[in-house]
Amino acid sequence: MKRRTKIILTIIVILLVIQLPVFTPAKNTSKADPVNDIAKAYDVPMDIQMMVYNSCYDCHSNYTREYPWYYHIQPVSWWMALHIHNAKKELNFSEFATYSPEKAAKKFDEIREQMEKKEMPIKSYRLMHDDVKLSDEEYEELAAWAKKMHAEVLDKSDSLHQQ
Ligand code: HEC
Repeated sequence: MKRRTKIILTIIVILLVIQLPVFTPAKNTSKADPVNDIAKAYDVPMDIQMMVYNSCYDCHSNYTREYPWYYHIQPVSWWMALHIHNAKKELNFSEFATYSPEKAAKKFDEIREQMEKKEMPIKSYRLMHDDVKLSDEEYEELAAWAKKMHAEVLDKSDSLHQQ
């Protein structure tokens, strides 16, 4: 066999082997009650809640609503699982109620920044899902909410420290 044919065959075998179900990571679909969801501890008006459910929760919560068919083609699922893992490490709306006031304040500030820059949801996801895109008004609304929450959390933790 020619060297090139060998290399091509090896690549094909690797691509086939990684399709085995054992190599597909577990889905991010927790069945647990969301007892620590952000709305349990903070003021999240209904319109804000709908926006974050729709545009953020697939990556920043313990439940991804829908896995596309191409999730089952490797290495797509590794790539998606890594995104969700990194996203939850930064910000998990399902665990937000467990954050210390300092951490919550920092996260609200980061949300405001991301919304002002319109950087979230990440680009690859926006390209694949038309319905998760936010309008300019929605970005503004989310940024204003995050700014207000940031100030409120700081105020509250200040008054706690003074007691
Ligand atoms: C498709 C997945 C995905 C969606 C949907 C998504 N994010 Fe993210 N987000 C990420 C990833 C991945 C990171 C980790 C940092 C990075 O890779 O940019 C992140 C990081 C963040 C951070 C931390 C950024 C920092 O300051 O370091 C914030 C805040 C954030 N996202 C807010 C949001 C908000 C708000 C929404 C909804 C409007 C949203 N994200 C939707 C994937 C996502």
